[in-house]
Amino acid sequence: MGVSGGAVWITGASSGIGKAVVHRLAHEGYSVVATARRTHRLRQLARLSEHIYALPCDCTDPDAVAGTAEELLHRFGTIRALIHCVGAAVFKPLGQTSLEEVENLFRANVQALFLCLQAVLPAMVRQSSGVIIHISSVAALKAFPSSSVYGAFKAAAAHMLRALREEVRSAGIAIVNLHVGATATPLWQPSLRRRWSYRMLQPEDVAETVCALLRLAERPRLLPEELVLRPQLGDLP
Ligand SMILES: NC(=O)c1ccc[n+]([C@@H]2O[C@H](COP(=O)([O-])OP(=O)(O)OC[C@H]3O[C@@H](n4cnc5c(N)ncnc54)[C@H](OP(=O)(O)O)[C@@H]3O)[C@@H](O)[C@H]2O)c1
Repeated sequence: MGVSGGAVWITGASSGIGKAVVHRLAHEGYSVVATARRTHRLRQLARLSEHIYALPCDCTDPDAVAGTAEELLHRFGTIRALIHCVGAAVFKPLGQTSLEEVENLFRANVQALFLCLQAVLPAMVRQSSGVIIHISSVAALKAFPSSSVYGAFKAAAAHMLRALREEVRSAGIAIVNLHVGATATPLWQPSLRRRWSYRMLQPEDVAETVCALLRLAERPRLLPEELVLRPQLGDLP
């Protein structure tokens, strides 16, 4: 069971993978700070467990992110981990993707991560501890059609973390990229989810893996730096 102290900040907590991670870690006894923009969903989550503290936060907004980190520290004293699940996808050929869609994908997949990292790092450096788990995608590692922009930003985010890992490993901060394959969440159009759900991961599978990675990454001697989690039947055709 659970934890000594501090809170685990889970971004993208209102849906899909983030929501499943909130359930799982709260069940394990971790103190969880769950953030997203959809406040009614956060309120529902907070009602489920005394271990869940919900805070609205648009992770693409610098002031909102800084304010959330401040409140978390004020309430819990230390930031035990950041589990970053914010993200958005547009699955389209590059030629049909608008600049507005590119900018939105950048904000959701790269800018939000950058801001959350800047918000938690000073406290983690002071503490000489902290785990950062980034929900990356197999699209960061492999080229899929209709995923050029999404895959490029996922790769950028994962690589930003690889470089940061080298900056902070001697400070006792553990950084993990979890590259996840197709998972049945609202990121996918309902028709695609209906068609392929039999061969997709479930959000609970990813949450269980996050929980195991958090346990491992908190050990002082080892670091599970990168893990690929694919459905048994492989990527969707
Ligand atoms: N599903 C897959 O097959 C799959 C595979 C590999 C990787 N991933 C990655 O896993 C992560 C979670 O995706 P998911 O599948 O769970 O999708 P999802 O169900 O659509 O969840 C996305 C989450 O991100 C939050 N979000 C989006 N923009 C935000 C913003 N500006 N500020 C704060 N929160 C924001 C959403 O909350 P609000 O809208 O309430 O803010 C929501 O909680 C993403 O990074 C995705 O790229 C997913």
